[in-house]
Amino acid sequence: MTARTFICALAIAFGGVSNLAAQGYPSHPITLVVPFAAGGPVDAVARIMSVPMGKALGQPVVVDYTVGAAGTIGVGRVARAAPDGYTLSIGHWSTHVINAAVYPLQYDLLRDFEPLGMIAANPLLVVSSSAFPARDLRELIAWLKANPDKATAGTAGAGSASHVGGIYFQSATGTQFRYIPYRGTGPAMQDLLAGRIDLMFDQASNSLPQVRAGKIRAFAVTAKTRLPAAPEIPTVDEAGLPGFYVSVWFGIWAPKGTPREIVTKLNAAMVAALADPAARQRLGDLGQEITPREQQSPEAHAAFHKAEAEKWWPLVKAAGIKPE
Ligand code: MLT
Repeated sequence: MTARTFICALAIAFGGVSNLAAQGYPSHPITLVVPFAAGGPVDAVARIMSVPMGKALGQPVVVDYTVGAAGTIGVGRVARAAPDGYTLSIGHWSTHVINAAVYPLQYDLLRDFEPLGMIAANPLLVVSSSAFPARDLRELIAWLKANPDKATAGTAGAGSASHVGGIYFQSATGTQFRYIPYRGTGPAMQDLLAGRIDLMFDQASNSLPQVRAGKIRAFAVTAKTRLPAAPEIPTVDEAGLPGFYVSVWFGIWAPKGTPREIVTKLNAAMVAALADPAARQRLGDLGQEITPREQQSPEAHAAFHKAEAEKWWPLVKAAGIKPE
């Protein structure tokens, strides 16, 4: 019996997180586990969501960090938590899909969680330090081809969005550079700003504030259309790498076995948060496209999560990405 099954069996044996507990839910603060370092994209979305969600639930939603191994440690913490609605996992495309094709996980990303709802999605930006000797994407690709293995790219670890974005870029352009892993792209950005690394394939939400401040250079956005929040950045199609699209979608999950009433309450709080004008504005400013209302249900989240796993697992396994 796995730890997860044991916890579920215990919960059922004690009348579980029973109807009674579900009715009084939530009676104390809820922990939202961010699996990367503070200051990065998941942290930003967690902070934006936590305040209006807490307001809707009548209890604070407290952002907490359990970091390491591209998010697998923090997500694993929630997989093993009691299914009582008080410990939730916030993450995205790489933490809740890609990692299963890279790491020998002690939990099952599809079976050990209850999807609560999707939040938003943002593309990557191909960015460099301001000192890097390339002015646009074509020059960047030409420089990397002429200087194999000279440049460094910061990532949040093997299999993270920033790493998979880099691997995809290398394969699309026939270039080689080295990866420097961090505990999240928040700390990686600090080194990009300081010029200690050269490149990042970074979520728009993390890079945009620095691009706007003129502290790093953005070559392209990995989407079909320019970002409303940054219309000056060309798309990959315009910049010379047609079809190089990557979108990182975010969601919140509870441990498997969380009672339906609690899932419904948590989803309603997410929906309320995503309707909150201040939260919408902050997400939009970061280049996040909010999930359409009709896609915000737990059912839509579960179906999309499964479809993403079916799409990406074979591709990532074939790429042979290994844990560091
Ligand atoms: C983070 O929050 O640090 C990022 O989402 C990491 C990544 O996947 O690149």
